[in-house]
Amino acid sequence: MEKRPFLIDCDTGTDDAIAIMAALYSPQIDIQAITSVNGNVAEVYTSRNNLDLMEYLGKDIPVARGAVRALQGGGINAEGGAECHGEKGLGTIQLPTAQRAFDPRVADQVIYDTAVKCKGELELLVIGPMTNIAIALCNHLDLAGLIKRIWFMGGAALGGNVLPTAEFNIWADALAAHIVTQSGIPMTMVGLDVTLKAVMTEEDIALLRQAGTKAANLTADLLDFMVVRRDEGGEDLVMHDALALAAALCPECLVCKDCFIDVEFSHPYTMGYTFVDQGGRTGKAPNAAVALDIDVPMFRRWLVEAISRSALEK
Ligand code: RIB
Ligand code: CA
Repeated sequence: MEKRPFLIDCDTGTDDAIAIMAALYSPQIDIQAITSVNGNVAEVYTSRNNLDLMEYLGKDIPVARGAVRALQGGGINAEGGAECHGEKGLGTIQLPTAQRAFDPRVADQVIYDTAVKCKGELELLVIGPMTNIAIALCNHLDLAGLIKRIWFMGGAALGGNVLPTAEFNIWADALAAHIVTQSGIPMTMVGLDVTLKAVMTEEDIALLRQAGTKAANLTADLLDFMVVRRDEGGEDLVMHDALALAAALCPECLVCKDCFIDVEFSHPYTMGYTFVDQGGRTGKAPNAAVALDIDVPMFRRWLVEAISRSALEK
């Protein structure tokens, strides 16, 4: 079966790294490139984490640097994630510094060039603020028609984590999220409604340790960091970003509903609010499949199996 071409745009962070590793060892897809954005921590760290992770795992996938600040969002440099992801984004883990260089192109150019190369078959996994995607859409009129689907972690039909009404990825660059959600590209929204339930356990960590590969052990180390964070009153072992990948590769893990969505970006109290028209009251045609329910055991099994598949690599 033909592998589905994917590009991952991310603000690597701990849960981004786990999602990337699940993608690397999923046989259905072929990762064309990884583009980095400011988000959990500054872009200088998110891009460094992406490049170091690729070299650590022996993957010769292009890694590009990207937007260092938002178009318009809640925080110019959303480094607020340090308490959640550690100072440089990978918890207490310091990977060996990669010897190879970043792709010489900036993220938005890599996104466009890859979309052209894939002739309309490219799918995007977007698991950080959407700045790079929005810039690429603004720079290339034909890009929207070249993206098969966007699978994004962001927003919430109800609630928020950075404001009562806003989720971090969307809040961090609300204007970018508005541009992307209104682009006409088919998309699936995987928001807090389901990601906050996507919690891994110590049992999953033990299973990953049994796999014993570099990727499985690194995932277990990242989850161990999250155990300490949880026990100190921080976020649980929540797999926000990996669930967005699961939407694409294990769709039976989620229940989705086609809704019209948009993003508010004009007022500080509603910055990053994702309007999800579940009842069709606007009369506007749905522009996203919105994940509203999750089979948690199925997701946990899928994630452990995906990363454990690294043991099959020669
Ligand atoms: O709100 C959760 C999202 O914010 C995840 O993508 C996490 O990595 C952070 O970027
Ligand atoms: Ca992320």
